Parts: sequence; C-alpha cells; structure tokens
Amino acid sequence: MTINALCTGLTEAEAPTCVFALYAAIVIAVCAFRPVTVAQASVLSLAAAAGGNALLFRQLFDAETGTFTYLLADVPSRRALLIDSVFEQHQRDLSLIRELDLELVASIDTHAHADHVTGSWLLHQATGCAIGLAAAAGADNVTLPLHHGERLAFGERFVEVRSTPGHTDGCISFVLDDRTMAFSGDALLVRGCGRCDFQQGNAHTLWRSITEQIFSLPDACLLYPGHDYTGRNVTSVAEEKAFNARLGGSATERDFVGHMENMKLPHPHKIAEALPGNMRSGKPRQEAIEEAWAPLIRSYAGLPELPPAWVVEHRTQLTILDVRSAEEFNGPDGRVPGSLLLPLPELEQRSGEIPADRPVVVVCHSGSRSALATQQLLKAGRCQVANLRGGLSRWRDEGYPLESATAS
Ligand SMILES: [Fe+2]
Repeated sequence: MTINALCTGLTEAEAPTCVFALYAAIVIAVCAFRPVTVAQASVLSLAAAAGGNALLFRQLFDAETGTFTYLLADVPSRRALLIDSVFEQHQRDLSLIRELDLELVASIDTHAHADHVTGSWLLHQATGCAIGLAAAAGADNVTLPLHHGERLAFGERFVEVRSTPGHTDGCISFVLDDRTMAFSGDALLVRGCGRCDFQQGNAHTLWRSITEQIFSLPDACLLYPGHDYTGRNVTSVAEEKAFNARLGGSATERDFVGHMENMKLPHPHKIAEALPGNMRSGKPRQEAIEEAWAPLIRSYAGLPELPPAWVVEHRTQLTILDVRSAEEFNGPDGRVPGSLLLPLPELEQRSGEIPADRPVVVVCHSGSRSALATQQLLKAGRCQVANLRGGLSRWRDEGYPLESATAS
C-alpha cells in the first residue's frame, strides 16, 4: 500500500508513474521605456512575479504528505488567499507572502484534513489573516465560517464557496470568479476522489457533490486537487468527466458507490494528531505554546533550563527570581539586576508575589536550589518557568552584569 492509497484512496492502478512536473520559470517583465514611481515599481514587481498577469497563482507542494497549497493574489491590490496550507510549511509560505509583499486576507481550507495539520493558525498569528473553513466542520478558532454560495473577496477578485461534502461533512471547493479554475480539495482528485470511509464520509453524497457542483463547471475549468503523489498537479472538468475511472465516462452512482465502499483502506497514519490539530485550526496544544516562550533545554532529569546568554538578552521581559537567602542576595556575590528575592524556604507561601504576566527564570548560586524551586513552581501550576543553567556563578563567569546591594 502506498502513501497515495493511505491518504486519499487512490490505488496504484489509478496512479501512473510519471515524473513530477517542474514549476514554470517566473517570467520577468521589464518596463524599460517609461519612468516608474516607487509605488508603481512595487505593483509592477508583483505583476512580474505573476508572469505579467493580473492574478498571481502559485501551486506549492508538501512532499511529506503529498499536499498542494495554493496562493492566489490580486496583483493591483496585492490581496491574497492561501488555500490548504500545511503546518510544517509555515515558514515557506510566510516567506513567499512577505517577499511578494502580499496582504493575506485569509488562510482557507477545503476541509478538516486527516493527513496533515493546517498552517492557518500560524498564518493568522503572523499576518492577522482570517481563518476560513466550512462552518459545518465545527472547528475552533475559525474566524471566517464559510457557507455554500458565499463569495470570498481578495482585492478585485473572489472565489465562490461550493459545498462538496462526501469525503467529509464539511468539504468545500473554491471556484475562481471567472470559472477558469477551481480548488476541489479531496472531493475530486486527478483521476480519483477522496475516500468516504471515515470522518462522516458518504459515497452517495460525494457522487452528488462531484456531479452537481464540480461537473457543472465549464469543461475548460482547470481543477486543482488537494493531493497527488505522482506528479499530476492539475486536471480539467472535461478530462475528469471523460477519464475518471470512478465516476467519469458511463459510470453510474451505483458503480461509484460500489467502488468506494469496497476499497478497504487503512486509516491515514497521521489521523490521530491531524484531526484534533485541524479541529483547533492548526493551533498547537496549549502545552506546546507554553513551552514555546523560550528555547528551553531539558536536562536529563527533565528540568527546563535556559542559558545565561538568552536570559540576559530577554531579562526585561522576564521575572528573574532569586531563591537564595537574603544574606546572599545582599552579599558580595551580587545578584542579577532587577531580580526578585524569594528565599526557597518561603517560596511556597509567598509564590503569589511572583508576577503572573511574565515568564519566570529561577536563579541561585549554582543552579541547585533554583532547580528545586523551578520544580515547585511547575508543580504549583506555573507553566513558563525555567532554571538558569549554571546559576549565578556561571552568569558571573560569562561576564554578565551583576549588581550589589550597595550599588542598588
Ligand atoms: Fe482529506
């Protein structure tokens, strides 16, 4: 069984071994004979990236999951949509959006995927874009619940939302305003379709979605699928009507349902993590976010620690909690400037004095008492806590600033 069959239900017989098509080179259009203002230069640059067209279109690929991501941008307004992003490709997508100087209106998904987690929440955090998904999917953190027939505008252009359930209850397809291209997610794939045997799948429903919503588009409408594993990156309504072995040609609904209900495919191997992740719109688990505040180093004992170099650079955003005695704190060893004294024996009773709105880095002379204090704070429910690795003695050895009681 190939990854192809695992994720979408395409069988080897339906997947020719053609070589993956290379992306076309970007056409550079040069305006050589007219003076160009700065604002014009910006627009012309995007027009060049779009091959001289008023619409920029990019098809991106995640080889790990065989997922296609699509970027659409209206060149005059620079407003863009991203369809079916992949969590692990966030930096790739964000870099492209920033280099092209696009305003991302929304990151939208065709459905709650079972084989990869969407990058929508990360994009929302990075750009402020909306998170779009079918309202029927019922996912959290969606800011733009989508319904059949709605138009989602980006600049002067828009995509129409078409409800195409059957692979999942919440599957939608996006049709470009001029009906020259459509993004069918997993409802219709190149010479195949999404499986119907889990996630509320229903072969009868999928038959109706494809025949009534996708095959009703113009024959020349290009169809861009959610996945492919063999290099087939685009098809057309005419081709699928003619050659899709499951529902093209003379196939009837009974033929299609008989095919789909007898595929006996194993579940996608990532389903256990992908589905819950997508029901949060790609927002990481709360614990993961809590750990993401700093480049924590876990000691072999499991203690979260931070090196002095990171702490000194971020200390204005932290509470530096010193758990030595008051004598040490005010003694000749000095202390980290601005640190808060709470001796270890008093920590449990006085932990309410630690500001709740910022992470805590705990310090003592060598890192030993502070390790215990870190564990106590974590056990008490504080999440963003770390031990200063090597304590104050390493801090001093590495030349970082100290203050004394007299100086302060
Ligand atoms: Fe899917």
